[in-house]
Amino acid sequence: MKVLITGFTGFAGSHLADYILAKHPDVEVYGIKRWRSRTENIDHLRNEKRVKILHCDFRDPVSVYNTLKEVRPDRIFHLGAQSFVPTSWEAPSDTMTTNIMGEINIFEAMKELGLKDTRVQIACSSEEYGHVNEDEVPIKETNPLRPLSPYAVSKVTQDYLAYQYHKSYGFFTVRTRGFNHTGPRRGDVFVISDFSKQIAEAEKGKREPVMYVGNLQAKRDFTDVRDMVRAYWLSLEKCDPGDVYNIASNSTHTIQSCLDRLIALSEVKIEVKQDPKRMRPSDVMILYGDNTKFCEKTGWKPEIPFDKTLEDTLNFWRERV
Ligand code: GDD
Repeated sequence: MKVLITGFTGFAGSHLADYILAKHPDVEVYGIKRWRSRTENIDHLRNEKRVKILHCDFRDPVSVYNTLKEVRPDRIFHLGAQSFVPTSWEAPSDTMTTNIMGEINIFEAMKELGLKDTRVQIACSSEEYGHVNEDEVPIKETNPLRPLSPYAVSKVTQDYLAYQYHKSYGFFTVRTRGFNHTGPRRGDVFVISDFSKQIAEAEKGKREPVMYVGNLQAKRDFTDVRDMVRAYWLSLEKCDPGDVYNIASNSTHTIQSCLDRLIALSEVKIEVKQDPKRMRPSDVMILYGDNTKFCEKTGWKPEIPFDKTLEDTLNFWRERV
């Protein structure tokens, strides 16, 4: 089986490759990267015989067409995206182009090349739910989508494009609405990595022991990335084409409680300061997903406890800084 991963040099993409190499000996991994992408998340895969790294920019239709023509993958995991919510207010057009046009380029190339049997997972997001009322949790897939950022709107579009290409052309698409996921290799702009890196730098004396934070009242449903990529894999093996599934832990934490748990692991005393620049024009206040549909379909359940994820993320940054 040939598997193509977009977002291969990123967080989930590199973990998905690790998972496949460890658990699926008959699978070849084709990871795409832009020529200038940073590679520290995949450097450990460079000498793997079952991994091939190809240059491709999924925002470019020619590049995507040529890559899919060469590989003719059996599975595509479309994980690549502009994925940081605040950037989507600063660069909404770029966010829309990358996230929406990238997916269209993949689907149109598949259509052109007659890749009828290729299954495609689209990494959609719990951000699509946006404004959620207190009586709507845990959130089911049927909840109204009320997106609160350009990023969230781009993910709603990606989600419905996958539905539409399934209905129009019979494509085998699966839409996974991933709730927050974190762990080692997470980019340093995302909250758990951001806080962990600040602690690691303070411990090494590279900064004052002052933690800068944004909105601590928001609540998020965190899954370890290693559980998340296992779910992505299962989505294309067990889920119904065209359908949508929450991937969540079925629990929620305030960002304040995440901060408290991380600070409890710190070797130095940390002072907390709110940084107005870290506040968003509109923030999703609560994400708490109902994962019943996906768990019943696939037998998946999250295995790694949240405290281990926090500790592993902090230790990752302790080695990096
Ligand atoms: N990044 C960041 N930095 N977030 C902070 C901070 C801070 O200093 N302080 C508080 N927060 C709050 C944010 O306001 C938000 O409510 C929450 O922490 C999580 O922020 P992020 O880690 O940036 O993630 P996100 O929830 O906006 O989006 C992530 O999850 C989505 C799935 O729900 C991203 O991974 C998206 O790509 C993904 O789709």
